[in-house]
Amino acid sequence: MNNLSTPREPHAIPAILADTHTAGFTMASEPLTCALLRTLAASKPAARFLELGSGTGLSTAWLLEGMDPDSHLTTVDNDASLLAILKKHLGKDPRLTVVCADSDDFLRSLHGQGFDFIFADTWSGKYRLLEEALELLRPSGLYVIDDMLPQPNWPEGHAAKVDNLIATLEQRQDFYVTPLSWASGVVIASKR
Ligand SMILES: C[S@@+](CC[C@H](N)C(=O)[O-])C[C@H]1O[C@@H](n2cnc3c(N)ncnc32)[C@H](O)[C@@H]1O
Repeated sequence: MNNLSTPREPHAIPAILADTHTAGFTMASEPLTCALLRTLAASKPAARFLELGSGTGLSTAWLLEGMDPDSHLTTVDNDASLLAILKKHLGKDPRLTVVCADSDDFLRSLHGQGFDFIFADTWSGKYRLLEEALELLRPSGLYVIDDMLPQPNWPEGHAAKVDNLIATLEQRQDFYVTPLSWASGVVIASKR
């Protein structure tokens, strides 16, 4: 099924991809991961979204397309040059707030706020500060991560971190967790 053709992409994607290649950014999320994000985003009307690790805005564009007009997305990255590409293509969307900051610091600053959807695509909220990220989710909120299936470029020891993360999530009594062999490997957890 992973070989199915890619679903219709948001119009901004070809231009973002062109700038992404020019910038030499190679950590972009896969289209099938992004398509899943869009589908899930569309199931959360009038919701607050948080993306940790914006990159050049590829996953951001798909999330925005799935979101309804009453939803809002905050995305954070510490690389201003990547965010310049994101802002060039998506910056006019009034539903989007772009934050250039260290995501650990930013995540901690959100303490006490509530989100309905978190896509954790950097170390923060995934391999670091997992508890802090999960705490931000409201009941019925979705927590989504990718890059869970073995990749050739994983550094030594990374596979153990991935196994540990999945085991930690699966042990939580307050989440329903489903690992999916989809795209780079996705885990979706919904807060009970
Ligand atoms: C996997 S990439 C994100 C890809 C993006 N979601 C996409 O769809 O293309 C991870 C991102 O995390 C960012 N990052 C790494 N360390 C960070 C930190 N301490 N604070 C904020 N962002 C960080 C990187 O600049 C990179 O853009």
